[in-house]
Amino acid sequence: MSGAVPLDLAALESATERALRAAETTAELAEAETSALGKRSALAGAHRSLGALDEEDRRRVGRELHELRGRMEALAAELRRGLHERERAAALEADRLDLTEVVLGDLRSPIARGRTHPVTQTRDALEDVFVAMGFKVAEGPEAETDWYNFEALNMPPSHPARGMYDTFFLELGEPETIVLRTHTSPVQIRLMEAAVREGTLPIHAVAPGRCFRRDTADASHLPVFHQVEGLVVDRGITFGDLAGTIEAFTAAYFGPEVHSRLRPSYFPFTEPSAEYDITCTICLGAGCRTCSNTGWLELGGSGMVDPAVFLACGIDPEEWSGFAFGFGIDRCAQMRHQIPDMRALVENDLRFLRQF
Ligand code: PHE
Repeated sequence: MSGAVPLDLAALESATERALRAAETTAELAEAETSALGKRSALAGAHRSLGALDEEDRRRVGRELHELRGRMEALAAELRRGLHERERAAALEADRLDLTEVVLGDLRSPIARGRTHPVTQTRDALEDVFVAMGFKVAEGPEAETDWYNFEALNMPPSHPARGMYDTFFLELGEPETIVLRTHTSPVQIRLMEAAVREGTLPIHAVAPGRCFRRDTADASHLPVFHQVEGLVVDRGITFGDLAGTIEAFTAAYFGPEVHSRLRPSYFPFTEPSAEYDITCTICLGAGCRTCSNTGWLELGGSGMVDPAVFLACGIDPEEWSGFAFGFGIDRCAQMRHQIPDMRALVENDLRFLRQF
């Protein structure tokens, strides 16, 4: 033993280990490996100094150095795995999209939650009432042929009743005349034609939708408005069924203090015909300005399906009878919410719309 090189292997090992363990990232670890295990490291220096030892020491210290390096390399590999794992987790965490995060619109961003328009809310509520009464919900096109909007409804060309249904004519569909429908009654014809074609009579259906008339907007009229049509075709249907259905609907939708009345009227497609009024929702029947002191507000029309309409659809009026009604959804919304001017429904003023 020469002792010429006072190698303190224990100190070398703990210094190397400390240097490796100090690394906090894989990049720092790579640097630490270079300086603690690389060519210029104290460990490499110790290897080089072996030449100064005698053979016996050289072999012993050489083996110890070799083992020390093996332990340090294993330690570095283990540290690298740990750091790598930690970095991967951090990267994943940074990239994560939390799809369950609740965005508090009013607190953290200017995006506020919207809502359905009061007319849509009213249509949905009306549908619910009729579905509960056993009606199906149907739909028809907003651009109709003259046949569906007028002729099949017992209004031939030049019929005077066409006067109250002036509308927008489209230059489409020659030789057929196409109009923006003036009421939802054409859906009656479509329902009856389909039931005959498919052999599915009887019919109990409501058909909500948009209608158009060449009207000037005022407090109770809009040129684009909404109606809900009702049609029942069955055996032995009477005017009493019509009146009872209207009253049941009125109480269900407007509440028990609001009632309905039918007033004799005229429509080409119903016979007899009646106008449908409800108790004024402002004064509850006492009489006020809105109802012109009558205590009643007009909501729509109704009547027993005219035999001429049945015949136009291929239904035998001796076997089948039925009733139909149609009323304004916008007017329902107006009456239920006591909106003084119907034009508020189309002005898109958020201060108004937010109240529903
Ligand atoms: N379609 C008629 C209107 O808009 C209302 C109505 C429907 C009348 C059904 C009778 C039967 O004026």
